[in-house]
Amino acid sequence: MSKGDTSTAGLAERKRSHLDLCQNDAVEFQGKTTLFEEVDLIHDALPELAVEDLDLTVEFLGKRLRAPLLITGMTGGTAEAFAVNRDLASVAERCGIGFGLGSQRAMQRDPDTAWTFAIRKYIPTSLLLANIGLVQAGQASTDDVRQLVKNVAADALCVHLNAGQELIQPEGDRDFRGGYATLARLARDLGVPVIAKETGCGISRRVGEALSRVGIRHLDVSGAGGTSWVRVEALRGNGSSRRLGELFSNWGIPTAASLAMLRDTELELIASGGLRNGLEMAKAIALGARLCGAALPIYRAYRTAGLDGAVTLIHEFIDGIKAAMLLTGSRTIADLAQQPLVIGERLKAWLAAVQR
Ligand SMILES: Cc1cc2nc3c(=O)[nH]c(=O)nc-3n(C[C@H](O)[C@H](O)[C@H](O)COP(=O)(O)O)c2cc1C
Repeated sequence: MSKGDTSTAGLAERKRSHLDLCQNDAVEFQGKTTLFEEVDLIHDALPELAVEDLDLTVEFLGKRLRAPLLITGMTGGTAEAFAVNRDLASVAERCGIGFGLGSQRAMQRDPDTAWTFAIRKYIPTSLLLANIGLVQAGQASTDDVRQLVKNVAADALCVHLNAGQELIQPEGDRDFRGGYATLARLARDLGVPVIAKETGCGISRRVGEALSRVGIRHLDVSGAGGTSWVRVEALRGNGSSRRLGELFSNWGIPTAASLAMLRDTELELIASGGLRNGLEMAKAIALGARLCGAALPIYRAYRTAGLDGAVTLIHEFIDGIKAAMLLTGSRTIADLAQQPLVIGERLKAWLAAVQR
């Protein structure tokens, strides 16, 4: 999901190294958490519910999902990436949840790689999201971006925001001006919904409100506490870029703080960034998320134990959400979204900073 050396081979090599690092290295935040440990749901000692009564279905962008879950965008552009996309898309279809493609920059630049993103037939009915970087979207015409979405038969486009990662990459983008204009243009003219998506540093109240003013209706907050792309680039880099990456390796708005800041806006929110179990996902829903996304743990489960490993993990997420629903007396996801929450001091400090 980055610029880098301009050759197709350079881009493919970077994709490979991102997948390797994410599989094997300590790519998650070490000194900052999502702050979901600062959020508590209130126990219902007498829930008048049976597990089989629970209804986890949600509607998102016109698609009905069996659970409020999304495998967020990771990869594309190489044969290896195609296999990951194909397998995880079929996992999403099997589980009745959403799936996001990784950055389609490779196929934007080299149409010969388009086949590595062509996985709609493996997810014929569920939610499928296209993906492009904000800077690349700004450089392309609306027609070209529409074609990227159409070629993969996606339901919506994620435009990813990754200024933190780019700054650490020696060859990354340095000019982020014009981002709101790009998103305004796409929201107005693309013809499919546009989701503004961070990549692990979170979205603030101020940015969310500004995005709302330019016509964006959906955000994936992708906050801090999970995979850190600054850390990934620090691990890839050396010398000055490694030191700058280390300096900023805990940069970002914790996922729970980002959600709590944005919850009473008009925006429809996807929670992601460091969501690692169903209880955190239930808390995210009670904090205002419509869907919960995860990337790294699903990728690792798939690498370790194949398709069944990914399916097992998703079922564990669902079991955790169900337990939290039963124990709060919530029969539906809408009931869970209404639950009162206990919020700790560290999370309150983030919220105080945005209340004027
Ligand atoms: C291997 C890998 C590749 C990723 N590539 C992309 C990408 O191309 N586009 C994008 O929007 N996000 C990308 N992401 C970011 C994820 O979608 C997600 O926002 C982030 O990793 C935080 O979620 P997590 O903590 O569950 O991993 C990638 C994540 C991983 C682990």
